[in-house]
Amino acid sequence: MNGYKGRLTFAKGTYVEFVVAPNQEVDFGDILVVEGHNGERFYIRTYDFSVKSRWSGINNVGYLMNKLDDQGQVVNQEELDFYLGGNHTVKIAKAEQLCYSDAAGSLWNPKTCPDFFSEIRALTADDTALLSELKGDIEFGFLKSGRGVLDLPVGIYGTKAIPEHIGIFGTTGSGKSNLVKVLASSILGSAQYGLLIFDVHDEYYRDLAQHPMASQNLKVFSVKPNSEHENKLNIAYADVDPEDVTACATFTEPQLDALYKLSSVWQEQWLPYMLRYEIPDIADELAGATGQKFQSRTLSKIKSICWNLQQELGLAEESCVAEILDSLRQGKVALIQLKNVSPVGEQALSTLLSKKLLQRCADNKRSAEDKSVMIVIEEAHRFLGKKEYTSNNVFARLVSEARKFNLGLCVVDQQPRLLADKVLSQLNTLFILGLASKSDRTKLETMCRKDILQQRNEIKNLDCGEMIVATNYMRFAAPVRVHKLEDYLVTRFDAKLSGSQLVALAPSVIA
Ligand SMILES: Nc1ncnc2c1ncn2[C@@H]1O[C@H](COP(=O)(O)OP(=O)(O)OP(=O)(O)O)[C@@H](O)[C@H]1O
Ligand SMILES: [Mg+2]
Repeated sequence: MNGYKGRLTFAKGTYVEFVVAPNQEVDFGDILVVEGHNGERFYIRTYDFSVKSRWSGINNVGYLMNKLDDQGQVVNQEELDFYLGGNHTVKIAKAEQLCYSDAAGSLWNPKTCPDFFSEIRALTADDTALLSELKGDIEFGFLKSGRGVLDLPVGIYGTKAIPEHIGIFGTTGSGKSNLVKVLASSILGSAQYGLLIFDVHDEYYRDLAQHPMASQNLKVFSVKPNSEHENKLNIAYADVDPEDVTACATFTEPQLDALYKLSSVWQEQWLPYMLRYEIPDIADELAGATGQKFQSRTLSKIKSICWNLQQELGLAEESCVAEILDSLRQGKVALIQLKNVSPVGEQALSTLLSKKLLQRCADNKRSAEDKSVMIVIEEAHRFLGKKEYTSNNVFARLVSEARKFNLGLCVVDQQPRLLADKVLSQLNTLFILGLASKSDRTKLETMCRKDILQQRNEIKNLDCGEMIVATNYMRFAAPVRVHKLEDYLVTRFDAKLSGSQLVALAPSVIA
């Protein structure tokens, strides 16, 4: 029988036990199917095993022990095989029912128990009800079942998952960036969603530029462009708000007060004036307009940060912000290259662009064709940590407001426990890669909308590129082997990779 795994021997509620057929492999985490009546199917996940034998009783064990020598070694293997052979020993698998598909092929949460001695088999491409829920329209990997990887693609539905925010968590080297690149590649292929990525380490540009659809759907913006494919990232003075400045340094109360006074007195010209005029003149101007006297030290700090920003971002009169926002709403991937920009500039820029995007999406001039847009923020605790969240910065506002405007955050971090609980509770899709720290895993277990406690061992043992996906609309948290970007580009998009990337390719793909 094709994929036959065993027979059900006990069921209670959603708990299922089955005897594993002789010579069949069933692993922890295997997703299997219990065949019901008239085409009903019960999808189960194995999480434990026990071995039972008619020799299990204490007297029988004692009898078998007598067949061993003083060192516990077998004296007569043939005799022992005689006792243990036949069907006296069975392996019982314990499993949890995940969901159920009725005779018409609709998928439901568990509704009833399967019958005694029902057949258990492996998943196949024929299990369409389950697989269409897992498939999504932004593909990122194959379903894993126990130690094997099934040839069954898994993805998320962007219209559901993006506005409800995504979290990608994993220790360094667990495959977070590869996953973001694979998600970006799927989006590049379909042009159905906008994706804003800040490329701090120059890793995304190199890889995504190889995508066959990059020339149409990838827009690259760089402070210092050095190829014809890169657009100049022009940020105008008028684009910069006090909030973008406060994002990149710590300010005292008087400094914050002065900053907001400057912007309300000089409006869009506050930044060029701040850079152009001497501190005593600025202090006099402010005193005249507001009646408040600010110390030169207070104003110097603001001027110094503004000067740094101007140097880093090459502030000018013209702006490409509208172009970036337009391309995102048209379903393109916008890559902001930050290779020569310090963390200070990066924080200001990501705040600035995210805020403009939120403003743009929130205004009433949205067109029906505007796509959902996702902003990727790496090392997200810098913006959404426990302390940072309370400042109600733009990312905190995005987490709580953006879903109304078809805008979502993809929060990437190595240590989810550093994020504010309010942020974690708003992430309705979690990609959990390998996490070395127990406190990070426990945090996700408590914050995840799906019950992932039973997958605790699986999560603990995830290898690079393996993850558990839990999303609101899926009926269970699914184990996934993420595609390796280079393989995915070649097999799915027929990409012709350059020399350095061929070296990274799995031998099977090159062959
Ligand atoms: N799904 C995968 N299949 C095969 N190899 C992978 C997979 N995901 C990642 N890798 C490999 O693992 C290495 C680390 O991956 P990656 O850079 O994505 O990790 P990371 O989590 O972003 O690390 P960091 O936190 O340090 O940025 C890379 O060399 C990458 O090629
Ligand atoms: Mg990374």
